[in-house]
Amino acid sequence: MRILVIGSGAREHAIVKSLIRTGTRAEDIVCAPGNEGIASEVETRQVDQVDRLAVVKLALEERVDLVVIGPEAPLVEGVADALREQGVGVFGPNQDAAQLEGSKNFAKEVMAAADVPTGMAHQCTTMEEVENALDQFGAPFVVKADGLAAGKGVIVTSDKSAALEHAGVYISGGVLVEEFLDGREVSLFFLADGKTVMPLSPAQDYKRAFEGDEGPNTGGMGAYSPIPWLPEGFVEEVTERVAQPVINELARRGTEFVGLLYCGLIVTDRGLRVIEFNARFGDPETQVVLRRLTSNLAELLMRAATGKLDVGPSAEFSKRKAVTVVLASEGYPTSTADYREVVGIESAESIEDVEVCKAGRVGRVLSVVGCGDSFQEARTLAYEGMSRISLQGGHYRNDIAARVS
Ligand code: AMP
Ligand code: GLY
Repeated sequence: MRILVIGSGAREHAIVKSLIRTGTRAEDIVCAPGNEGIASEVETRQVDQVDRLAVVKLALEERVDLVVIGPEAPLVEGVADALREQGVGVFGPNQDAAQLEGSKNFAKEVMAAADVPTGMAHQCTTMEEVENALDQFGAPFVVKADGLAAGKGVIVTSDKSAALEHAGVYISGGVLVEEFLDGREVSLFFLADGKTVMPLSPAQDYKRAFEGDEGPNTGGMGAYSPIPWLPEGFVEEVTERVAQPVINELARRGTEFVGLLYCGLIVTDRGLRVIEFNARFGDPETQVVLRRLTSNLAELLMRAATGKLDVGPSAEFSKRKAVTVVLASEGYPTSTADYREVVGIESAESIEDVEVCKAGRVGRVLSVVGCGDSFQEARTLAYEGMSRISLQGGHYRNDIAARVS
């Protein structure tokens, strides 16, 4: 099976590594546009990932059986639709179904129709509506841009003027004011084939920039998997109450979801609630979830792409633990430094059970992944790897997986 992976982040590097680790030959993988880390493992090609025709042309030229779309932007642009129209196998939802991530209002409507537990929210199109909704819920305030905002669309704050200011930035495209949900967050991924879902293993992401969950929200500064503190039956509950009903509701609307359904959940005193959906693998959770996958990833993704998830075995995972720590460049996420060279990646990867997934040249630049028999061991390995890497002005959190055992 020949596979084209679209994307250029640490997530796509982790997907490529997992494909190879679980049985796909490196010669059978192409990544576009990829990055320097990915290029050291498989062939890469230049492409504008949101250009539908360019991606279709590349997939046909490379004669691939399956295209795996990593990021949300090509999905929201309809790259998956264009590939399917040409008969190319795709793991990644069509434009309509990707609205589950592309529009928070759409996600809320689908959840309401499917009776999925989520926070109460008001859809607002004027600042007056925002103000009323903030007053109704009270502090802490949660304001979300309706559309994609590269991880910057959500603010959680006790400062009403900051909440209003944030709403003001996004109000022209619509904002959602949501009740504050208190609890621990969990990311759970499902493969979906339009009708059936298959859970992967849960992971926890660290969203805030600094230690102790301080600072602004980011794309994610670290993660671990599995999650030892989850109640028994958690994955089954999310499957039955969240993932399957959402897939059914989308199918009922004629927008079958084929790809990765990312359920961002919070476990509250009143039970589980959905915070958000994404239509793609999460970053950096993928680095830890796929690190532990033992089933053949290419076969699983192909079964999802061809409507065959219900035929054959479920995804299986190692009992080992995985921890990833993200290295970000100076100023991330509020400002962008100039490109500076990262050194020491080879030395980090020379440690057994440490791998490095490369990302951008600025922003989140890489993730170091440690894998061990205990969280303690996995975490020690990840940080030992990180200590061998240097980037002027770079920063990472020292408390990833510090309190899990
Ligand atoms: P999102 O982009 O929707 O994942 O939101 C980013 C982060 O904001 C989440 O990971 C949570 O930490 C936080 N968040 C979002 N919605 C809520 C909520 N209703 N209550 C508390 N925190 C939230
Ligand atoms: N780590 C959060 C995300 O991928 O959206």
